[in-house]
Amino acid sequence: MLPTTPLTPPFALTRASHVVLGVRDLGRSRDFYRDVIGLVVTEETGSAVYLRGLEEAAHHSLVLMAAGDAPRALQVGFRVRTPDDLDRAERHLAAAGIEAQRVDVAHQGPTLRFRDGVGTHIELTASMDLADRRMQAYHEFRAGAPQRLDHFQVVTHDVQTATDFWAALGMRLSEYTARDGTDELWGTWMAVKGNTHDLVFTNGRGPRLHHFAYTVPDATALIHAADVAGSLGFGNEIDRGPGRHGISNALFLYLRDPDQHRVELFTTHYQFIDLEDQPIRWDVSDPRRAQLWGLPASARWFFEASEFPDEPVREPLMTATPATLEDYLAIH
Ligand SMILES: [Fe+2]
Repeated sequence: MLPTTPLTPPFALTRASHVVLGVRDLGRSRDFYRDVIGLVVTEETGSAVYLRGLEEAAHHSLVLMAAGDAPRALQVGFRVRTPDDLDRAERHLAAAGIEAQRVDVAHQGPTLRFRDGVGTHIELTASMDLADRRMQAYHEFRAGAPQRLDHFQVVTHDVQTATDFWAALGMRLSEYTARDGTDELWGTWMAVKGNTHDLVFTNGRGPRLHHFAYTVPDATALIHAADVAGSLGFGNEIDRGPGRHGISNALFLYLRDPDQHRVELFTTHYQFIDLEDQPIRWDVSDPRRAQLWGLPASARWFFEASEFPDEPVREPLMTATPATLEDYLAIH
């Protein structure tokens, strides 16, 4: 069933903003995101590394936190427009019976943490410390030259509940995958900032963070990132792509970091702003939704993702499973 998005949501979400990952070895993960992906290191402490994309003016879009031997996805971060919006978010969540905590987070303004309708660990903030945009420091570009964080994909046992939760907060459905011939949701691509998605939910064991994604300038940067991954010994950690998604029209590459967290590099999406724009529907069995060209995703791309701490993982309500690369190879 398709969700309803109110024209006047309870508070103003503006965009996917930042992700916090627990990692086993801060130095090793910093090297990966700086050298293999191409992010800028804003700051390092003994327990955290803060990174950002080249064009980003916010202090961080990726935070690596020392997490001992238990690497996890810690927070999926969004921005709200003003501190008043954070107050409104707090009141809205309280009225909905959802527990939320105000927390002090370095380099961020007032910050609110809660778990969404399917257990995803969410962090909202209205502001961050500023950093220099490096978008014209072309001599510093390396690997994929990632420009900005764009979106998150979360695996959930209940795509309908997740989608309804975020639609009520103002996210609009731009594209969706459903059981063949129906509107029984397998995956939803939801947007608030004006392109096709800030947040994606797909059916599976969850909640788990499947990936977070940075934009790259062009196809050449994407291929260069793949070359750099190969030359630095991470060639086998490309678990999908390059290829072209049917959904959202992205040229994509997915890589696994030293803790197997997954990051996507992709060329940008199309605009999704006007209210009369309608979501695009895809049958789950249609291979073109996943790739217009390129091989199907590997089983590890489909089935592996990062758990959240102390958050039980539940079996999916829907049993539809897309064909994997391994399925494809078995019949060709
Ligand atoms: Fe993505």
